[in-house]
Amino acid sequence: MTKEQLFKRYQTYCVKNDEIGVSVDFSRICFTDEFMDKTRLKIQRALKFMAQLEKGDIANPSENRMVGHYWLRNPDIAPDRSIAAEISDTVNKVKQFAAKIHNGEILSSTGKPFKNLLVMGIGGSILGPQFVSNALGNPVSDKMKVYFIDNTDPDGYERILHLLDNQLDTTLCVVISKSGKTIETRNAMLEVENRFKSNNLPFAKHSVATTQMVEDKSDLFKKAKNEGWLEVFPMWDWVGGRTSETSAVGLLPAALQGFNIDRLLEGAMVCDEWTRSKEAKTNPAAMLALMWFYTGKGKGEKNMVILPYKDRLELFSRYLQQLVMESLGKEYNLAGRLVNQGITVYGNKGSTDQHAYIQQLRDGRNDFFVTFIEVLKDRDEEEFYVENDVTSGDYLTGFYLGTRQALIEKGRESITITLKQVCPCTVGALIALFERAVGLYAHLININAYDQPGVEAGKKAAAEIINLQKRITGFLTANPEKPFTVVEIAEGIVSAEEKSNGVKPEDLQENVYHICSHLSANKQRKIERTDSVILSATAFKYSEYII
Ligand code: PA5
Repeated sequence: MTKEQLFKRYQTYCVKNDEIGVSVDFSRICFTDEFMDKTRLKIQRALKFMAQLEKGDIANPSENRMVGHYWLRNPDIAPDRSIAAEISDTVNKVKQFAAKIHNGEILSSTGKPFKNLLVMGIGGSILGPQFVSNALGNPVSDKMKVYFIDNTDPDGYERILHLLDNQLDTTLCVVISKSGKTIETRNAMLEVENRFKSNNLPFAKHSVATTQMVEDKSDLFKKAKNEGWLEVFPMWDWVGGRTSETSAVGLLPAALQGFNIDRLLEGAMVCDEWTRSKEAKTNPAAMLALMWFYTGKGKGEKNMVILPYKDRLELFSRYLQQLVMESLGKEYNLAGRLVNQGITVYGNKGSTDQHAYIQQLRDGRNDFFVTFIEVLKDRDEEEFYVENDVTSGDYLTGFYLGTRQALIEKGRESITITLKQVCPCTVGALIALFERAVGLYAHLININAYDQPGVEAGKKAAAEIINLQKRITGFLTANPEKPFTVVEIAEGIVSAEEKSNGVKPEDLQENVYHICSHLSANKQRKIERTDSVILSATAFKYSEYII
């Protein structure tokens, strides 16, 4: 296509919303009118499905749940009044709580104002808060200084907790877990609680939770309630983790940092209205879904590279990686057919990535399409000219336009989302735009976007490993001072009854080896290692004298 033709396509296929300052340009995806005609019925059906979902249909059949994240920014469309009231009450509760923290009505256990915010969670319970914090935050002027813990890595805990040395008395902890049972988040909470204890500070008086407020479902809720935490904010079963940024999950950390959550909700709501349009060509979420379908032939054959030319949006690719891959990466479709669906998402930011993998994007495998994000406003502060009449921001735009051009010249396709500026409104809109695009695309390929059986499988497998470790340490502790090889340990921990039920010690040997290697590398665990060239002959023993 010539440059003139491309500009004509831009004028035809760029959709704009001036109210929120967002436009989406599909001109650099080389679809045809024929493709649009062929998929007209399919996308109409997907839009109808979304309309039913918003009315409260059970859109997540495997978990028998409604899917209600759209109600969070417009409670009036919730299927019943009690849901609408709960949403509005929660937004008010978030705002009031944040105000009380900021104005000192709620003080720390030592009577000091809270200055730091330590947010704990994982997956959908933290990626949104991290993205929004990075997009809207200003470490110097935010109302609270934020820290995140999103893993079960002891060294990761130390790195964050060292930053808070001598400051825990002014730290407010926010523990987020919808299920209230997620192990990584529980471990983070226990570690942080322990650090508070060692500083003689009552963790409960420094903590709030966001979780399902049902005792027999959420251990976190039970703990927070029994121990009298400062507050508990609700998560509902009709909100999925990865679509929870506009619930208390995202709103509470945002409000505590001082961001305008009303504008964030408004941006999401206006984008929802925009993306309900029945005319696919003017509906950017429908167009995104169609473009994903077009580029990947409905099978995810092309990877989605997210490339914002803005440091503030750097975490958007990480946020989208989960939203897209956890929602769309499914083994079976809704008809029960094996499909192994998904779209691979990666990215970071421009122009930084031009000095990394973009070489391959231009000259190497054509297995992707790029989603550029351009931000028109450079900075609030006074401009600085790096050359005569040229700013660094001009270069940023130059690099974006140049890269897009260089890619299309080699037949590599892209979409561009342009934001007037990065602000609560456009951030809310971005979140809403992709939430709906994922829902529509899932319908095009007939999968359930709202469950995550693979995540559950990973959790189950980890629990089995911990159980195996307990058996190994039990065995070695009961037989101290004598070294046992991997083969002997595996043999020693399987009972005769288990063997008769088909459990084979040989199948446990590799995990025994890895678990013991980890234990012996951490001296406090009192497991000593004797190396051998043959791994199965590597021996481990329990030792009281190791530390
Ligand atoms: O999107 C999801 O549903 C998941 O990524 C969850 O958010 C994640 O597993 C954390 O779950 P929870 O909030 O129950 O701790």
